[in-house]
Amino acid sequence: MKLFSVALTLLTSSVAFYFYTPLPDGIREPKKLMLLDATFKTVSKFAALKQQLGFGHPIRTIRTFRETLLESDAGEDFVPGVKVTDVSFSGVPVRVYETSGGGGSLRRGLLYFHGGGWALGSAKKGSYDKLTRMMSAELNAVVVSVEYRLYPEVQFPEPYLDCLAAVKYFLSEEVLSKYSVDPERVGVSGDSAGGNLAAAVAQEISQDSSVSVKLSVQALVYPALQALDFNTPSCLQNHNIPILSRFALVQFWIQYLGADLSLKEQFLSNQHSGLEQPLLSPELRARFNWTLLLPPEHQKNHTPVVTDKGLEGILEKVPGFLDTRASPLLASPDVLSKCPKAYIMTCEFDVLRDDGLMYTRRLQDAGVQVTNAHYEDGFHGCFSMLFWPLEFDVGKRAFKDYIRWLQDNL
Ligand SMILES: *[C@@H]1O[C@H](CO)[C@@H](O)[C@H](O)[C@H]1NC(C)=O
Repeated sequence: MKLFSVALTLLTSSVAFYFYTPLPDGIREPKKLMLLDATFKTVSKFAALKQQLGFGHPIRTIRTFRETLLESDAGEDFVPGVKVTDVSFSGVPVRVYETSGGGGSLRRGLLYFHGGGWALGSAKKGSYDKLTRMMSAELNAVVVSVEYRLYPEVQFPEPYLDCLAAVKYFLSEEVLSKYSVDPERVGVSGDSAGGNLAAAVAQEISQDSSVSVKLSVQALVYPALQALDFNTPSCLQNHNIPILSRFALVQFWIQYLGADLSLKEQFLSNQHSGLEQPLLSPELRARFNWTLLLPPEHQKNHTPVVTDKGLEGILEKVPGFLDTRASPLLASPDVLSKCPKAYIMTCEFDVLRDDGLMYTRRLQDAGVQVTNAHYEDGFHGCFSMLFWPLEFDVGKRAFKDYIRWLQDNL
């Protein structure tokens, strides 16, 4: 293990030089982040090369790398006293974490969707398995981490439908009682793509009159919430900040929504949401118009990128762009007003910062109570980087604050 980590450090230091990314002063552990970024970029290059040589899908190569290097099993001793079982809810695999004891009283329930661009990550491996073990212990909660299907095996709406089915199953009186969960204290949460799924599921559950037990909170960690504007101030400011570049963000969206990958440049310049798109009414535009929704300190001196003409017929061809199950930011005020109380975590150095800030504003305008935890030194991904070799102080602070909010509100 020692030798391995020395070799790894040497290797990554040399590629770090090659892939050197200048980072803003606000990021407190820049060397570590650069090293991490260099490693990811190297793996992506390798994955792309392997694909060119005909050895499989790049996403699968990246998965193998993550599993080998980063996703060691936590094991029972990691958080003693948390029982882990793998079951399926309505056919969707889930991992359930339960604390023992509690003396027969009802517990909190928390449904969790991991991040990874709807393509990577797993409930059962690496940092997510560790995070959810900790959540269960700290909150004395039954945590249900959903192993929804991923790209390239599936695309929108399948991951969303998997999550929704698991949540609906858990919210039945019978299942809640089986797990000794208080129906008044069930929340939904997720980070990044998982935050997207959590926001979308929260909207659906609050609308669905056939579901009698409702979610009482939603905790969204740097969620992705819209795919119509890839030129928000945070997209432009942080376009090349690890670990999620603007380029990678667009790639993940295109894959998820099933759009044509060769149109990437057009999406990057917002040609799918130009003024001549007949499906985009002024009312709909206002729901993701950052000049209306962002506080001035986050608009800085950026100007909106709005094209006249653009990709004709694209919104008809790829309906996910306008579907609130993929883009929860586009929901109507009426839908938002029924949503549960929210915790929205945002990071200054994150392309998705403004998605979270705009959703904060829109939920508040609809009368929903929102706590926005904004980290001036935060970057995308930090919330799940609490463990060696990916360990950042800002992630630890963010996790602590998240737990405290859930202790107080769930
Ligand atoms: C966004 O809102 C501003 C302020 O009301 C408005 O001037 C602008 O036209 C809107 N942009 C779009 C693309 O609708």
